[in-house]
Amino acid sequence: MSDQNDVRQIQDLGGWVRTHHLNALRAENVGDEVCLMGWVQFRRDHGGLIFIDMRDRNGLTQVVFDPDINAEAHARAHALRSEFVLAIKGKVRPRPEGMTNSNLGTGAIEVAVTDWKLLNTSNTPPFEIEDRVEAGENLRLKYRYLDLRRPRMAANFLLRNKATQSIRRFLDENTFLEIETPVLNKSTPEGARDFLVPSRQNSGQFYALPQSPQIFKQLLMVSGMDRYYQVVKCFRDEDLRADRQPEFTQIDMEMSFVDEEQVMNLAENMIRRVFDETLDVKLPDPFPRMTYAEAIRDYGLDKPDVRFDLKLVEVSDIFKDSGFKVFAKAELVKALRVEGGEAFSRKEIDDLTEFVKVYGAQGLAWIKIKEDTWQSPIVKFFSEEEKAALVDKLGIKPGDIVFFQAGPAEMVNTALGYLRVKMGERLGLIDSKVYAPLWVTDFPLLEWNAEEKRYTAMHHPFTSAQEGHMEVVKTDPGKALSRAYDMVLNGNEIGGGSIRIHDPETQAEMLGVLGIGEEEAKDKFGFLLDALQFGAPPHGGIAFGLDRLIMIMTGATSIRDVIAFPKTQRGTCLMSQSPSEVSNLQLRELGLRLREKPKPEAE
Ligand code: AMO
Ligand code: AMP
Repeated sequence: MSDQNDVRQIQDLGGWVRTHHLNALRAENVGDEVCLMGWVQFRRDHGGLIFIDMRDRNGLTQVVFDPDINAEAHARAHALRSEFVLAIKGKVRPRPEGMTNSNLGTGAIEVAVTDWKLLNTSNTPPFEIEDRVEAGENLRLKYRYLDLRRPRMAANFLLRNKATQSIRRFLDENTFLEIETPVLNKSTPEGARDFLVPSRQNSGQFYALPQSPQIFKQLLMVSGMDRYYQVVKCFRDEDLRADRQPEFTQIDMEMSFVDEEQVMNLAENMIRRVFDETLDVKLPDPFPRMTYAEAIRDYGLDKPDVRFDLKLVEVSDIFKDSGFKVFAKAELVKALRVEGGEAFSRKEIDDLTEFVKVYGAQGLAWIKIKEDTWQSPIVKFFSEEEKAALVDKLGIKPGDIVFFQAGPAEMVNTALGYLRVKMGERLGLIDSKVYAPLWVTDFPLLEWNAEEKRYTAMHHPFTSAQEGHMEVVKTDPGKALSRAYDMVLNGNEIGGGSIRIHDPETQAEMLGVLGIGEEEAKDKFGFLLDALQFGAPPHGGIAFGLDRLIMIMTGATSIRDVIAFPKTQRGTCLMSQSPSEVSNLQLRELGLRLREKPKPEAE
């Protein structure tokens, strides 16, 4: 009976029915006859007993193979290895005194096995499947299905599901209709590159995958659907980062007969409800609001992390006639005073200098405020008046370090804005249990695109200008404000939307402002411009980045941890090896020929 070949015989369920998942049994189940199924997380042999921690997506349960209960079942259990799949029948009993584990939901009990079946064997996994995994992310992505067995990952997806269901319930209660929009599309302008899909039946023509359902949801308002939502995949071919994926999920919403207040109010209620139902966290009511101009002034970024103070201060005026030309000539000079930063080493400051260079900074000027002197590579250029003015404006004290950034306004704000966030993390100013949502409002309508030498829409071309601001566009385009709003949470933009243009003339005018001529407008958005001529109601909406929201709710550091099968920074899937080459036949059918032949695979 204990022949190795025999014991590894894979069986099927043979009518066995699972009674509990592996985080279900508690002290009150003692005495119950149960049937459990799952994976071997861990095996210990001792005192003649074999202990197995069985794992499923919900948790762990300890099962015991005792020769006194079933000698044959115990003998066979010697063959069990990590990640083997088994089914057991047994009786729930309390763990012996001193052996309970209060960290585990099932920690008060164990199951004494009366019989078991091997449902499958497993190769030795390429990394240990536990939360303290040491394997690098690439290996884990290659074997993503194993990585997803880790309790932390499973918990992320349980939470993601709970949050999504909560959102769906909320929107259903608020009379939103869930409507699907096409994935094979014409291009929608959200500012990123499109992913293109060649059409076989229309040779030489391409679909674009949607960057968002923006135009379709507006058309649904024209068609009288009144309130729409969709949990929807969006596709953007852009540079990837920890909070960006080429395909990601939006909670996309649109409402008719509303202004900003109603959209923001409803979106806020939705987010408050999700946090309450999913994490038992009460968010503020209402969310604080900040204008875009205030956000940039104080935090340098339009997605301020307001969990900690530490504000940027403009000091351009102090240096406007300075002998220090770098500061005197700059469009903007800003300072960031960091308490306790005097202790930073030269190496740490060098690292921070490299950090800000990523945002286009030339360098990072600094002053360490010692008890009796200022230590700094630049202070020799400052006059006594300039120093006194700095003390006055920044409230400088011994023990501080003051960082400066001078140059084009956008670079200065971005570089110091991210430096501020880094300082908040480095100095432990951020309480990770705090959730600080806010609205950022009054966004500029347009932004200057230096590369293309033209204005582009800051949100998208369908966003309304504020009352009277289409006039401002004519005189001072950069100053015109829009009816767009972003929801920001802990320094992340989790959602953005706007009140749309609903009359065709204004929409045509806006496209003109963006340098999109009549021909091009007709070609690209003709169907929208037409639709607006048939009684489009006033409408507006918002879309949330579901992955980002769940990343924050789970405390993950990357959205990859809350997406089942994510792509790498290079946009590849290490598991399925996509993207990949296609056959010549497929290309021919699509009427395509590659300009460069792909390199032949190394033999
Ligand atoms: P927007 O472009 O601001 O608005 O996108 C809405 C939200 O989607 C999330 N997001 C992303 N998440 C992960 N990876 C990405 N590459 C990515 N890009 C965006 C962000 C963002 O706030 N149609 C408009 C919405 C509207 O006006 O109603 C839109 O798509 O959290
Ligand atoms: P330099 O005179 O070029 O040696 O620069 C003196 C200090 O100012 C160095 O610490 C630089 O990193 C920093 N620095 C140079 N240019 C800028 C700038 N535009 N803004 C802020 N700091 C700068």
